[in-house]
Amino acid sequence: MSPLHRRPFGKDQLILGIETSCDDTACALVAGDGRVVSSVVSSQLEAHRPFGGVVPEIASREHLRNWPAVSAEAFEKAGCTLDDVALVAATRGPGLVGSLLVGLTLGRTLAFARSLPFFGVHHLEGHLYSPFLDADGAAGEEPMGHFVGVVVSGGHSSFFDVRAGRVTTLGETRDDAIGEAFDKIGKRMGLPFPGGPIVDALAELVELPEEPSFPIPRCGDTLDVSYSGLKTQALQQIDRMERRGETTDLSSTYETLRRDGVRAVAEAVPALELLAAFRQAAVGQILDRLESYYAAHASAPEVVAVSGGVAANRHLRRELTSWAERRGLDLRLVPLRFSGDNAAMIAHAALLRSAYSSPDDPRRVEAFSRGSLGGDPRER
Ligand code: KG4
Ligand code: ZN
Repeated sequence: MSPLHRRPFGKDQLILGIETSCDDTACALVAGDGRVVSSVVSSQLEAHRPFGGVVPEIASREHLRNWPAVSAEAFEKAGCTLDDVALVAATRGPGLVGSLLVGLTLGRTLAFARSLPFFGVHHLEGHLYSPFLDADGAAGEEPMGHFVGVVVSGGHSSFFDVRAGRVTTLGETRDDAIGEAFDKIGKRMGLPFPGGPIVDALAELVELPEEPSFPIPRCGDTLDVSYSGLKTQALQQIDRMERRGETTDLSSTYETLRRDGVRAVAEAVPALELLAAFRQAAVGQILDRLESYYAAHASAPEVVAVSGGVAANRHLRRELTSWAERRGLDLRLVPLRFSGDNAAMIAHAALLRSAYSSPDDPRRVEAFSRGSLGGDPRER
């Protein structure tokens, strides 16, 4: 019998998902068959933008302020009330503890007061299974087989082997996360936070350099990645360009692109080429590791599921698609709607877990700031 059939929740029952691990306040309702009935994400970017990054104290306060409207919208879109909820799920970590506590305490309290089952979900577990969600509201797919999961975000760059819910870490970043590197380069070039999506959009304006400008670092024979060296090399190159009097501030290029859709002016081209080269190297490292892994492991799983904020990167999506085609693999790219942090993935992960583990005691689940994902789902 597939784990789907062992789930205690029917397809018409609803799971309430709550995600407040960083700077997005998110609430979702997911049905027992994995269908995303509603998913609302409220970004706090405007509140953090003047500081060039997420300020933890502001993030917790914003979650408290935003939650009533976000949850009301999620219930309204789903056309249901709390009375229809059969299970509550909230992210318990990793993330900013002050932020996590807002959503986790809400979820625990709701579950306890209403005697509903509760799951405290590992944020990465949410991302890991998100490629199996349907963007258009169809039932979620059963990800219970064997797959390689790649999570690339602002906090993580990790490779996992996932077999029937059992997660083994194959590799992770030794220093910065890939999204963090994108954000730092964006900031240095005068772009608003988070720089990742903007660096990606600007890199689209120019051709890729013929010769890769940045070498792809190796971390022995492991699937580990490293982004601090690439970040330093790119920053040094920006310094050199500045000393030569070349334009490195891309804020007005970005503004023009956003406002009028106008393409790059000539003087911004060298800086844009640098961004394209940086993106190529950052993405290249993920591809390089996957290719080495598949070259060395003939029995590696056929399904590769890629998720996290950086999974929205256009270059990464194109490169992964052609790599998977070449290797004859079944690539599952997270739908763009669920690539960044959202609560549908948290409700979905809880739904999957409900097939093989009993709920958590809502009075005892603690938030945690750090902690890798791995091992038996019953012990998670
Ligand atoms: O998954 P996510 O929303 O939050 C974390 O769990 O970290 O990922 C956010 C990260 C940020 O670093 C953001 O700059 C990056 O994802 N990001 C991108 C793109 N869209 C978002 N990085 C590169 N290219 C993109 N298109
Ligand atoms: Zn995330």
